[in-house]
Amino acid sequence: MIRFENVGLRYGIGPEVLRDVSFRVPPGSFHFLTGPSGAGKTSLLRLLFLSLHPTRGLISLFNRDVSSVRRDDFPEIRKRIGVVFQDFRLLDHLSTYENIALPLRVAGREESSYRNDVVELLKWVGLGERMQAFPPVLSGGEKQRAAIARAVVSQPAILLADEPTGNVDPLMAKRLLRLFMELKRLNTTVIIATHDTGIMEQFPAPRLVLEGGHLYTRLP
Ligand SMILES: Nc1ncnc2c1ncn2[C@@H]1O[C@H](COP(=O)(O)OP(=O)(O)OP(=O)(O)O)[C@@H](O)[C@H]1O
Ligand SMILES: [Mg+2]
Repeated sequence: MIRFENVGLRYGIGPEVLRDVSFRVPPGSFHFLTGPSGAGKTSLLRLLFLSLHPTRGLISLFNRDVSSVRRDDFPEIRKRIGVVFQDFRLLDHLSTYENIALPLRVAGREESSYRNDVVELLKWVGLGERMQAFPPVLSGGEKQRAAIARAVVSQPAILLADEPTGNVDPLMAKRLLRLFMELKRLNTTVIIATHDTGIMEQFPAPRLVLEGGHLYTRLP
């Protein structure tokens, strides 16, 4: 599903942020991506979302070498990937409900076919009372939960989440992790970037650990 071979990444003329990174993530698996601040977690997720390109090496997604994918085909690939960005990126002019429903609307679905599911999901992430609120008035944790709901609502083939529990309390963090585990059960390939060791201990899963530009895998 995801394969990196000797991937190197540098920004401009800076030092290599990722060096000879190689790993494989099978379909329907669940991995944490961890490592200290500045280790390259967000950069690695951006490579997977095709918003950044490696300086060297091979990245394969859905059995395709991404360097051979034409820019026009990026949206087609991105549609199959749900992302929770570290800075949320909600649309301020849409309500919370509309933000979460957007991927389904864009996919051409009738509102009557998804309305109940979206409402259920909003309740699950604790936003049942905030559906009609707009992002500028949401708290940091509420925005984070809205971003998570939007990323998971269309049951993507791959889910990438960047520090998805950074702004919520431990009880909510656990609830959100259960949502990600549920996606894995439905065969989504999940990668969660986090420093939260408490969460990693509660949900045993293999860890992709970034350190000094190198990546190694640690089994639970
Ligand atoms: N757009 C950019 N231009 C130049 N350097 C960058 C850019 N984005 C990230 N970097 C550098 O790349 C390195 C890895 O950054 P990245 O954001 O991927 O780390 P991270 O592991 O996500 O950190 P954090 O845990 O703080 O979110 C850092 O040294 C950072 O300064
Ligand atoms: Mg980051």
